[in-house]
Amino acid sequence: MCGIVGIIGQGPVASSLVDALKRLEYRGYDSAGVATLENGHLERRRAEGKLRNLDALLQQKPLRGRIGIGHTRWATHGRPTENNAHPHATNKLAVVHNGIIENFRELRAELVAQGHEFVTQTDTEAVAHLVTEQINQGLSPVDAVAASLPRLKGAFALGMLFDGEEDLLIGARRGAPLAVGYGEGGEMYLGSDALALAAFTDTITYLEDGDWVILRRGFAEFRDESNRVVQRAKLKTQASAFVVDKGNYKHFMAKEIHEQPEVVARTLAHYIDFANNCVRLPFELPFDPKALTGITLTACGTAYYAGLVGKYWFERFARLRVEIDVASEFRYREAPMPENGLMLVVSQSGETADTLASLRYAKTQGQKIIGVVNVSTSTIARESDVAAPTLAGPEIGVASTKAFTCQLTVLASLAIALGRARGVLSADEEKRLVNELMVVPGLLAESMKLEPKIEQLSHRLGKTTDVLYLGRGPSYPLALEGALKLKEISYIHAEGYAAGELKHGPIALIDEQLPVIVIAPSDPVLEKTVSNLQEVSARGGKIILLGDAHSIAAAATPLAGEIVMPAMAPDFSAIVYAAPIQMLAYHTAVFMGKDVDQPRNLAKSVTVE
Ligand code: F6R
Repeated sequence: MCGIVGIIGQGPVASSLVDALKRLEYRGYDSAGVATLENGHLERRRAEGKLRNLDALLQQKPLRGRIGIGHTRWATHGRPTENNAHPHATNKLAVVHNGIIENFRELRAELVAQGHEFVTQTDTEAVAHLVTEQINQGLSPVDAVAASLPRLKGAFALGMLFDGEEDLLIGARRGAPLAVGYGEGGEMYLGSDALALAAFTDTITYLEDGDWVILRRGFAEFRDESNRVVQRAKLKTQASAFVVDKGNYKHFMAKEIHEQPEVVARTLAHYIDFANNCVRLPFELPFDPKALTGITLTACGTAYYAGLVGKYWFERFARLRVEIDVASEFRYREAPMPENGLMLVVSQSGETADTLASLRYAKTQGQKIIGVVNVSTSTIARESDVAAPTLAGPEIGVASTKAFTCQLTVLASLAIALGRARGVLSADEEKRLVNELMVVPGLLAESMKLEPKIEQLSHRLGKTTDVLYLGRGPSYPLALEGALKLKEISYIHAEGYAAGELKHGPIALIDEQLPVIVIAPSDPVLEKTVSNLQEVSARGGKIILLGDAHSIAAAATPLAGEIVMPAMAPDFSAIVYAAPIQMLAYHTAVFMGKDVDQPRNLAKSVTVE
């Protein structure tokens, strides 16, 4: 959460800082700020709300400094006011920070006792005062930071700018990502990720966990946790190749929904040998598939629901036992893990704190790790034995869409590959499944044509306060995902349930007002889903059926609405049915006038627990 950036430039840096922050807004957007040195002295501009407010403030009160830091915030400690916005400063330094300083209360008490005056409720301000205290004691800024970092507890990334130091920025990384960029003519950059720096440079060094860095014009010195000077490799990044704009769409989310036929096809092309109708993984498996005893799957939010769909595939195609949990629970469960076990973590950003902690726990338990990730340079990608890329491209809309369907595509390919390698699937069965996967992009494209109808239905949903989603088999996690998508961008209360669970409690909710969205592709459990649907109908529930012509006919009950999907084989319908689910949430939120790309209280990359 939160994005940080720093620039040592040749000319004024404020507008470049804001440009970089625009690319980082996905990490949080409830306030923003920059600090530069004006005639050698620290000056800040900060604004509550979206980045455009900071932009407007800088138009009125420009900053001209050639060195500076910037921040876009997702509040953890202290309300998202201007006063709590970063950078936080004393008369000695300004600090931008992503993450949480866990021991800030103790530090604050100690520093207040030493005479420091705190003016915000943030944990970050303790860092500014801690370093200031060291400088007041006579240390140079570099030595002051070296003395302060070991006192900080928690997971964070920091950027610091010092009063009177026109040629010095310091960055530090512990648990949250941070990169250094190298520009023309000695310009130097600091940023939360390569995307933030993409407009300036394609040459990047990622700090390792525990590292900190001293930046001067044309110079970067990396030090590790023990303050030893270390060498870190320069990499060429792809980030600058990505065009981060909305194209002809009103929102990133709409663009990303519509990109799915293309990005799913791109992901498939990476995993499937189209000429021979078989899966060809783009990496060596880090274990013997025949000796594999089971899979533990963990992730958060939408990525977790992708994993939950994957569970059905691994069990069915590879006959592997799958244990799955949300990462925030898994990491603390101290779960025993099997010998010869595989840990699969799924993450779009590759930086989600709970998922990363689960990965690290699994390593201590001797598991092999496959990270299904969209950001190939992310921490999860780097710490996995194998990174299985999802190739969705940068996902900017906060609500995950194309990353989800690409995650499903990778999980499906992996399940088939394991099934075949373990001798569970014959060559013919693999071929049949691969043929089914190969038509998914086309089916996704076809389902995009349903958008006008879905938009119409969304106007009805936009007037309700509660919605229930039901599904069975792989459509059950899709029901959970549908409910999550709707609540996160429209703020309508929604629940997803396994259709068979309905009569164990939630059926009490059914009345003549409640819209019930039933996801019912023609699959082996359709008959059972239809029975549940009829139970809803008998109690006056307003059913919106998402199915194909066959399942709609099988429903044999009056419907409040129907979305008629193209006919398809059942195995991978979850990938295709995700699109109308996303479109329904999107149009409902647009109809209600909500901020679809940046819903309240959320951030794209959750690097705090
Ligand atoms: C919902 C959504 C979140 C993320 C979750 C995990 O639309 O985007 O639920 O799926 O925060 O994030 P990653 O995949 O980056 O680990």
